[in-house]
Amino acid sequence: LVVVIDYGAQYAQLIARRVREARVFSEIMPHTAPVEQVLARKPKAIILSGGPSSVYADGAPQVDAAMFAGGVPVFGICYGFQAMAKALGGEVAHTGGSEFGRTALRVDDHGRLLAGLADELKVWMSHGDSVVAAPDGFAALAGTAGAPIAAFEDLDRGLAGVQWHPEVLHSESGQQVMEHFLFDVAGCTPTWTAANIVEEQVALVREQVGDKRVICALSGGVDSAVAAALVQRAIGDQLTCVFVDHGLLRKGEAEQVERDFVAVTGVDLKVVDASKQFLDALAGVTDPERKRKIIGAEFISCFDAAAAEIVQAGHGDVEFLVQGTLYPDVVESGGGEGAANIKSHHNVGGLPEDLQFKLIEPLRTLFKDEVRAVGEQLGLPHAMVWRHPFPGPGLGIRIIGEVTAERLDILREADAIVRAETTAAGVDGDIWQFPVVLLADVRSVGVQGDGRTYGHPIVLRPVTSEDAMTADWGRLPYDLLERLSSAVTNGVREVNRVVLDITSKPPGTIEWE
Ligand code: XMP
Repeated sequence: LVVVIDYGAQYAQLIARRVREARVFSEIMPHTAPVEQVLARKPKAIILSGGPSSVYADGAPQVDAAMFAGGVPVFGICYGFQAMAKALGGEVAHTGGSEFGRTALRVDDHGRLLAGLADELKVWMSHGDSVVAAPDGFAALAGTAGAPIAAFEDLDRGLAGVQWHPEVLHSESGQQVMEHFLFDVAGCTPTWTAANIVEEQVALVREQVGDKRVICALSGGVDSAVAAALVQRAIGDQLTCVFVDHGLLRKGEAEQVERDFVAVTGVDLKVVDASKQFLDALAGVTDPERKRKIIGAEFISCFDAAAAEIVQAGHGDVEFLVQGTLYPDVVESGGGEGAANIKSHHNVGGLPEDLQFKLIEPLRTLFKDEVRAVGEQLGLPHAMVWRHPFPGPGLGIRIIGEVTAERLDILREADAIVRAETTAAGVDGDIWQFPVVLLADVRSVGVQGDGRTYGHPIVLRPVTSEDAMTADWGRLPYDLLERLSSAVTNGVREVNRVVLDITSKPPGTIEWE
């Protein structure tokens, strides 16, 4: 374990991910955690992250010198570098040489931290203060125009630091610097692999569950599928999965869950075909938020009923519920132990609080890319593991207007054509998500063959994004757009127009509703 101490900037998660990319497990702790608590975790190394303050500002978080006395290697980054220098008797000053963004770094002495790297590196900086004198025992390694000492190391004590952000992709050789610290200074071993994660989680789930029964709601999405497959690997037929088919999925997705997922995992799957129930409940509804509420409520009632049936079928009491909570949710909701504050897993519509189950969250230490690696390790189908995000209310919020069976068929067909073409063009990895939207209440005149048509438009909404909070419209090649347009209008009789959405988020959202 490597502990990343979060000094309040947005970089701690990125650092933790880079450490894991080096196959070393890492977790984030807040800078308010007492040193004894950090050391009690018995970390192989500690990394101090960047932060927004100046080390001399009133109330700026300091590093307790005890952090460096426990014999655990420590790496300071940016603010953490300065805080380390100050705590050990070095000097940090406001030199007036603030540097933000790409900065030229001069390496004077490669030492172990920068061994084998170029003598000049472009690195990503964000600092006002600078270290002007290294603490005793440290060798200064590099500098920039604004930071006389931009890297140092003390190999006897396993301490090192850099002023720049090696975790940021714009920093040249950034990952190498991280790895030099982890392996050559701190002596970590790279054992955090998908195979080991699976083995460890399987053991933990077995221990937690004992001989009790467990249920899991599958949504068709990546997280619930991987969580279920892991738990299945651990406890076999003590797990029952419930898949509520609300009839709002894309073409082939329900079959994929029913057939491929079961074939690979051997899971005991209860499929609830509730499409009629959902359609009836949605009849006449056009308001997006009402659609969401109705879909959420129907989902809960179906899931509840399925859970009750499982109990009645004589399987005994169901004691645990599997949730696909991920590590970023845990960190953002305050981290720590227990499941308090975790935002409800909205893929499954938000399960009700009065479902009295204990939670099993086998993904709560993982980032999304690790979830995918675990999914592949468990042998889940590639198409399931690499699925783009898809909203819980499904196609229900991609039909602008009332949701009906006919309209769902039109959209499902158009969407399937778009997916097949984009996958064939090899651009799935370049886009975050690609909603295909039916403007069901809009009609326009067209001409097909000799006849006049009066059909519906389909909107293509490819977007790029890092986290769905902001997004840009995806610049797909013109020839692909042309193929999409003719394939959809040729393939779906009711559609006579295809339009491209070129709105970023903000001001638009990714979905139309
Ligand atoms: P927006 O449209 O708000 O979408 O830019 C951001 C991300 O959230 C997804 N989304 C939802 N997911 N239930 C979900 O499970 C919902 O009601 C919902 N609405 C939007 C959307 O697909 C995108 O990834």
